[in-house]
Amino acid sequence: MLALETSCDETAVAILRGDRSGHELLASEVASQVGAHEKYGGIVPEIASRNHLISAPRLLDRGVSKAKTRLSEIDAFAATSGPGLASSLMIGASIAKGLAIGFGKRYLAINHLEGHLLSPFFGVEKDDSSDIKPNVSLIVSGGHTMLVVVRGLTNYQLIGHTVDDAAGEAFDKVAKMLGLGYPGGPDIEKYARGGDPTRFEFPRSMLASENFSFSGLKTAVRYLLPKIMPGEDRRLTQAPYNLDEPTLRDLCASFQQAIIDVLVTKTIAAAQKYRLHLVTMSGGVSCNEELRRQMRDASSRKGIEFKSAEPWLCTDNAAMIALVALLRLRAGFESQVTEEIDPNLALVSQL
Ligand code: KG4
Ligand code: ZN
Repeated sequence: MLALETSCDETAVAILRGDRSGHELLASEVASQVGAHEKYGGIVPEIASRNHLISAPRLLDRGVSKAKTRLSEIDAFAATSGPGLASSLMIGASIAKGLAIGFGKRYLAINHLEGHLLSPFFGVEKDDSSDIKPNVSLIVSGGHTMLVVVRGLTNYQLIGHTVDDAAGEAFDKVAKMLGLGYPGGPDIEKYARGGDPTRFEFPRSMLASENFSFSGLKTAVRYLLPKIMPGEDRRLTQAPYNLDEPTLRDLCASFQQAIIDVLVTKTIAAAQKYRLHLVTMSGGVSCNEELRRQMRDASSRKGIEFKSAEPWLCTDNAAMIALVALLRLRAGFESQVTEEIDPNLALVSQL
């Protein structure tokens, strides 16, 4: 299975060998475009698609040579078909469709969120669909924060989602206020280490609901900053605050803990409500070591198993897309090359 992922600002190609019950990753290549968009303060779709067009053929070449195979030996081609930026999705999908048509092979259109959702099952010994054990899954990325009840391959029930900012988006926006780099999550995690998570009191919104809201937390940080740096109200100019290091550490730790409390509390509550004994977590924010540790501890206190993909599989990549494509192909699914990309593709079709 060869898969392409070009939904946002990462170009990725992966090749997975599957047999009746298992899979082996032969190649996984990712080219990040972070540098190309940094100076604009956000992703510029036109630049993203041009970069996908440049990077994808190179990654394909490299992937095929690392996997010691040839494109003609690939049995099926897959690509992310949504959600994401339309002009970016088109690049990966067009390449996969072209290869499938050219070599007379099957094509699979894969949902990016399903890629994240099943990534915790990557690399398990036996991976047929019966091994996707029922679980409550938390997807936390830059674009999404979702709680999903997974009962098996393709059997997903969306039980909660963010009503405003995604958790990763909150990390990124707060990092920007503090003059840290993009994406903000890794930098905030770095400064939070050794900081005091109880020094600043931040809201834990909507704890009783299965939905999430992080914009109040972001606003609380914005209003706190001029108070701890009197005379330096930069809310209007949007210029970053230069806090002294101990304060920066405490602020990052307090902010990070507020997000972790919300994510852990709701996920464990959902596992108990739906009587599921496995919690899984995926998406870029799930790289956060403190979040992983606290989710693992909270699960084990309730006798619940916890599973999360290795960090390299949590941020956007094509290996997770290849895994879903492989599982779906085995279960008898395939797509038509006429299937269009969908920037707003939902994980669970809304009736
Ligand atoms: O899944 P992903 O790579 O892309 C999307 O599909 O959105 O997630 C990217 C997000 C960014 O918002 C980034 O700040 C966040 O994941 N992130 C983290 C960490 N590493 C990445 N957030 C918190 N802690 C981290 N260590
Ligand atoms: Zn993603």
